[in-house]
Amino acid sequence: MDPQALWDRYQKYLCTVDSLNLALDISRMDFSDGYLAEMKPQIEAAYAEMAELEKGAIANADEQRMVGHYWLRNPQLAPTAEIRDEIEQSVAQIKTFAADVHAGRVKPPGAGKFTQVLSIGIGGSALGPMFVADALGQPGDDKMRVAFVDNTDPDGIARTLAKLKGRLTETLCIVITKSGGTPDTRNGMMVVRHAFESVGLDFEKHVVAVTMKGSKMDQLAENQGWIARFPMFDWVGGRTSELSAVGLLPAALQGLNIEEMLAGAAACDEVTRGTRTATNPSALLALMWYHATGGKGQKDMVMLPYKDRLLLLSRYLQQLVMESLGKRLDREGNRVDQGIAVYGNKGSTDQHAYVQQLRDGVNNFFVTFIHVLEAGHDTVEVEPNTTAGDYLNGFQIGTREALFGNDRQSMTLTVGQVDARTIGVLIALFERAVGFYGSLVNINAYHQPGVEAGKKAAAAVLDLQNRASAKLSDSPQTAGQLALAIDAVESVEIIYLVLEHLAANGRIKRTAGAFPAETTYCQK
Ligand code: PA5
Repeated sequence: MDPQALWDRYQKYLCTVDSLNLALDISRMDFSDGYLAEMKPQIEAAYAEMAELEKGAIANADEQRMVGHYWLRNPQLAPTAEIRDEIEQSVAQIKTFAADVHAGRVKPPGAGKFTQVLSIGIGGSALGPMFVADALGQPGDDKMRVAFVDNTDPDGIARTLAKLKGRLTETLCIVITKSGGTPDTRNGMMVVRHAFESVGLDFEKHVVAVTMKGSKMDQLAENQGWIARFPMFDWVGGRTSELSAVGLLPAALQGLNIEEMLAGAAACDEVTRGTRTATNPSALLALMWYHATGGKGQKDMVMLPYKDRLLLLSRYLQQLVMESLGKRLDREGNRVDQGIAVYGNKGSTDQHAYVQQLRDGVNNFFVTFIHVLEAGHDTVEVEPNTTAGDYLNGFQIGTREALFGNDRQSMTLTVGQVDARTIGVLIALFERAVGFYGSLVNINAYHQPGVEAGKKAAAAVLDLQNRASAKLSDSPQTAGQLALAIDAVESVEIIYLVLEHLAANGRIKRTAGAFPAETTYCQK
């Protein structure tokens, strides 16, 4: 395309939203001029579904749940006064609690103030809080330092605890789990509890819960007299819970402006509720995803924010997009194997890594650049009249050009700066794009049967481990013999794998055989 035609296309399709300080350039996606008109019926159906969802329809039919994350930033939209009050009370509780902690009115028994936060949760109960803490935190200036345990990896937990060495007396733990029954989070809590107790600290005086009322974790927190409990709601999904207590509590404790985050999300919702596609950036994103992937996930979504503060955006969006859209069945139960793969880190760093393949290798992706106008702290001239921020800007625009020059598609989302309001805007923007895309491809974007299946499968493995361990004796036995003993011959391979794990960790004795089937195990 000649430069004038490209410049015209850029201006024709640029979606600028002044109220959000945001612009979306879709000119480097290769859709035809008729595409948006062709997709009008489908996107209008998506608008209609979203309107019903926001009114409180059971949009998550498989779980028979409402989908209410949009109410979190505008409680007036909630379908009942009870839900509206719950949201408002929760935000008020968070603000009061954070103020009390900062002022030392809520304090640990052995120190004047809590200065550290240790957040324990996984998936939707971790990725949002981690993204926001990293995007908006200012080391040295934050009211409290926040660390995360988001795995049942004992070595990972030990590393996080090592960072808090000598400061556990001033550490406030937040256990975040919507369901209250996630083993990874329970395990993290138990290991952290042990660390507190081993230095003589009373864990109950150092911990709060964010969970659904009446869940296992809620009951534990109540029975053990934890400092406080904050509600999670049935009608908010894990990956869309950043603007509930899940994300707001750690952010408020860190000293981030949660009002602005909520206001940014509410403002974005207002814009993206609009049904004029050319001025609706969430709808345009969804339509571009549909175009690029053929509505079948044929291309991967590469997120390239040119800003260190947005490094974790890709991980956050990876969950939001892939857990929402990665579905085997459509809403009528037909096999569709849907989804869009998401990956990315940040520019210009990635230009020295996988961008080589993007430019020259397999063309199986489309890029979403995030361009932040305000460079921040950009006072040093690295060359006459040129700053590091000029380079960052130049690299971003240059990479867009280089990719386009080789027929690689991209979009560019430009924001003014990375602040609390912008983060709220970005969260809301992508949440709604995912919802629209779910409608376009006719899947339920709000359940996660694959995640639930993984949880069940892990429980079955641990059950086999316990049963096989109970049959271990002083005499060596193979995995096959143990499988027979517990009446689980069909699971011999899994039994072998758990025995190898136990042996590698010094919990049982192993004698290597020529083949896995000949390796024997016995009690130590
Ligand atoms: O988005 C989701 O639903 C999941 O990623 C959950 O957030 C994750 O499994 C953790 O669940 P919970 O918050 O119930 O502990």
